Amino acid sequence: MKFWIHTYGCQMNVRDSEAVEALLLAAGHEQAQSEEDAEVVIVNSCTVRQKAEEKAVGKAGNMIAAKKITGMMGCAVKRMGKDIFKRLPKLDFAVGPRRFGLIPHIIDEIVKTRAKGVLEIGDDETPTGMDAHPDIQRSGTTGCFQSYVTILIGCDNRCSYCIVPDVRGHEYSRPAREIVAEIGALASRGVKEVCLLGQSVLRYGVRNPAWDERDAPSPGGYIEAFPRLLEAVASIPGIERIRFTSAHPKGCTDELIRVYKTFPQVCRHLHLPVQSGSDRVLAQMGRRYTRAEYLAAVKKLRDFDPEFALTTDVIVGYPGETEADFEQTRTLMEEAGFDNAFIFKYSPRPGTRSAALPDDVPMVEKERRNQVLLDDQEVRGQRNNDRLIGTVREVMVEGPSKRNRLRCAGRDSGNRIVVWEIPGEACSMPAPGDMVRIRITAAHPQILLGEPL
Ligand code: 5AD
Ligand code: SF4
Repeated sequence: MKFWIHTYGCQMNVRDSEAVEALLLAAGHEQAQSEEDAEVVIVNSCTVRQKAEEKAVGKAGNMIAAKKITGMMGCAVKRMGKDIFKRLPKLDFAVGPRRFGLIPHIIDEIVKTRAKGVLEIGDDETPTGMDAHPDIQRSGTTGCFQSYVTILIGCDNRCSYCIVPDVRGHEYSRPAREIVAEIGALASRGVKEVCLLGQSVLRYGVRNPAWDERDAPSPGGYIEAFPRLLEAVASIPGIERIRFTSAHPKGCTDELIRVYKTFPQVCRHLHLPVQSGSDRVLAQMGRRYTRAEYLAAVKKLRDFDPEFALTTDVIVGYPGETEADFEQTRTLMEEAGFDNAFIFKYSPRPGTRSAALPDDVPMVEKERRNQVLLDDQEVRGQRNNDRLIGTVREVMVEGPSKRNRLRCAGRDSGNRIVVWEIPGEACSMPAPGDMVRIRITAAHPQILLGEPL
């Protein structure tokens, strides 16, 4: 059957959708050319904020109205459980984040028996099919030379506002050997860049051991599981770049810095969500670091490389967030000098600890705080990027620039977008995955412009 997957949410969901695509292709199904052309539509849902969940449910409703076989997968399915069929009585199937490996089987059953309302949410199972990758990866989400690899699923951090532990279950680190084998296979298919995924990747190997006595000892003498994994991945021939997300300041250890120093493949960018700059709010959120500890982690990274790129997530309007708390967030963002920031308006999620607190910052005020931080970030992004004018960046080519097909776009090690003119004919466009050296000549808040050397 011809299928189409519609993905909402974070990179984990993008990766899960890719795995489902691979499993469906392996089961003999076919990727549709478009949503309209599809017989089966799967909506991979997010529930991190109420709006995200509504979007996914709305999309599934439209697909049902369009008379497609419609399934939902992902985080919103787990949150809603069987109530999802109250919202969408004609939904054919719904599968939780740890059960997507069952989708090909469920589709077969539905086709055979015309069953409706099939629900698979499970609890803490280790998903199957996690290492499946489509043969020809779509460009767009990840190019054919880039691949996401899930290393850790679930989360045990229990931040007060966050629904992820409820929907993605307990933290589980995949065995290092499986991950290394998966990346080896990707490399032999031409993948040059991997992005290792987990809710909190620096907790890799903390809750359950990821290495065992069958594994050879770390050549560099790494004791911590995550730096040891990075060392192993860096030794895979063909892997030129290694990224990972998301991080927590507690994971910014001396061993991690040693990895950065030793392996140029490990990209100099961290997505380090801070959420708030106020110690009072951080404590309420249960983030397990103070403002000073967070800034100490930032200093450690920037002392080692002043051009180290840092991005973050911030929540505005957490219950009880005062103007003074908010000012603390503003000043922290300035001190940390973020290269980019994603700002979210607090949204109470059922069952989380903060959902019991009054959501007392009015929406207009959340919007104002959101805008203030975005405006600050625009100025900061411009200033950070201006400092890079005249420097030479090692850029991995992604392809023609979206805005101007006669320009080429790629990213530097810090994940900064770099755009340059193609000298001469468009046919001299370098291939996606090529490394080129670009001298930066101009800067915008989120884009660097330059010329090839
Ligand atoms: N409300 C608003 N933003 C949230 N995030 C997580 N939970 C909530 C919530 N209840 C944000 C955090 C997280 C990002 C993925 O989403 O900033 O890092
Ligand atoms: Fe959304 Fe969080 Fe699930 Fe990602 S893990 S899809 S952000 S709810």
